[in-house]
Amino acid sequence: MHLTTTRRVAVLAGLGGLLFGYDTGVIGGAQLFIEKQFDLSSLSDEVLVSCVLVGAIVGALLAGPILTNWGRRAAITSAGTLFIIGSVAAAAAPTAWFLDGARIVVGVGIGVVSVAAPLYVAETAPAEQRGSMVALYQLAITVGIFAAYLVDEWFAADEAWRAMFAIGVIPAVLLVIGVRTLPESPRWLVDRGRRDDARAVLETLGDDEHTVDVEVELATIDAAAATAGDSKWRAAFSRGVRPALVVAVGLALIQQLTGINTVMYYAPTIFKDAGMTSSTAAIWASVTVSIVNMGSTFIAIRYVDRKGRRPLLVIGLIGMTAALVALAVVFALGSSGGSSFDAKDALTVGALWVYVCFFAFSLGPIVWIVISEIFPASARGPGNSIATMAGWGGNLIVSLTFLSLIDLLGDGGTFLLYAVISIASIVFVLRLVPETRGRTLEQIETELVS
Ligand code: BGC
Repeated sequence: MHLTTTRRVAVLAGLGGLLFGYDTGVIGGAQLFIEKQFDLSSLSDEVLVSCVLVGAIVGALLAGPILTNWGRRAAITSAGTLFIIGSVAAAAAPTAWFLDGARIVVGVGIGVVSVAAPLYVAETAPAEQRGSMVALYQLAITVGIFAAYLVDEWFAADEAWRAMFAIGVIPAVLLVIGVRTLPESPRWLVDRGRRDDARAVLETLGDDEHTVDVEVELATIDAAAATAGDSKWRAAFSRGVRPALVVAVGLALIQQLTGINTVMYYAPTIFKDAGMTSSTAAIWASVTVSIVNMGSTFIAIRYVDRKGRRPLLVIGLIGMTAALVALAVVFALGSSGGSSFDAKDALTVGALWVYVCFFAFSLGPIVWIVISEIFPASARGPGNSIATMAGWGGNLIVSLTFLSLIDLLGDGGTFLLYAVISIASIVFVLRLVPETRGRTLEQIETELVS
C-alpha cells in the first residue's frame, strides 16, 4: 500500500499516541501486584501512580526547546528512547523507589511525545486533512488505553506486573526505528533556513485528492517565519500570541478538569460505588467504557474537517454535562444493594458510556488538534509545551483529588462539580475558541489569532 508522507507521519504519531495511552493505562492493573510485592502504603501507592504524570509535566516542558532546536524528529526519537529505558527499568525494578524513578522516565517520554506528535502531524498535513490526521493520534491513545486493560488482564493470573511494563518496549522500538524513515517538518526546516530541504519535503505531501501547491506553501511559510523573533519562549508570552495561549491552555485544562481521567483511571471503583457488587462485572463494565472511547473517536475523524472544531466541541460538552448530571442523580438515588446487575447498574454504565462517547469525539481529539494549530510559527514549540504542560498538571490535580472529593462531596456531588465545569467550558468555547477548519496554519496565524 502506498502511503503519502502525511499518512506515514500520522501512523508514526499514532505509535506515540499508543505509548501515551498504554503507559498511562497500564499502572491500573499492575498496581495491585506491585503493592503486594513491595508492601506499599496507600501514600506510596499514590506516589507510584502520580510518577508518570509528574514526569509528563517535565517532559512537556522540555519538549519546547527540543522541538525548536533539534527538530520534530529528534523530539520523537528522544521520547522513544526514554520509553525504552523507562520500560526496561520498570520491568526490572528491584525496589519501589527504583520503580518510581523508572515511571518518571517513562512519564518524561509521554510528555515529550504528547507535544511533539500532534505538532509534527499538523505541520505535515494539508489544511483540509489536518483535523482528522491529528484525531488519528487520539484514536491511538484510546487503543493504547484499551490494550493496557487487555495486557493487564492477560498477565493478572500470574501477577506478572513486570511483563506488563516490558510489553511497552515493543511500540517504543518501532517508534524510534519508524521516525528514521520520515522527513523533517517543512515548517521547522524553513525556520532553520533550510528552504531547499523544506521544498523537497513539501513535494512529497498531499495525494490525488489533496494537492499541495509547493511554491504557494513555501511562500506562506517563509512569510510566517520572517515575522518570527529569536526568543521563542518570550514570543509565547508576547501580546500578539496571548489570545492563542489563553485558548490552548484553557482547552488543555478543560479536557482534564471535566473529569475524563476519573473514569479512565477509576472506572471499576465508580461502578463499585454505584452498587455493583461483583468485581468481575465492574471490570467488564470498564472494558466496555474503553471500547466506547475508541469507537466514538471515529466520529471526530470523520467530521472534524467537515463540520469544524467548534460544533463538535459544543455538542460534546453538552452531552458530557447531561451524562454527568445523570450520574449525579443515579448516585443521589442511593445504592440498591442487590447482588445481581440491576436497573441502577445499567443506568450507571449507560451514563458513563454517554459521557465517554461525547468526550471521545470532542475534547479528546479536538484539544490536541487546536493546540497544534493555533500558535504562530514564532511560538509554536513553546506554546505547545506550555499548553500541554497545563493539561498534564490538570490531570495530576484531578487524579490526586478525586478520591478525597468523593469523601467530601460524595460521588454525586463530585460529578455535579465536573458538570458545572463543563457548563463553564461551553461558554469558554463559544466566546474564545476560533474555527480553524480548512485554514492553513499561516492563515490561522494571520486571520484568527493576533
Ligand atoms: C487525554 C487523556 C485521556 C484520554 C482518554 C486524551 O486526549 O489527554 O488524559 O486519558 O484522552 O481517551
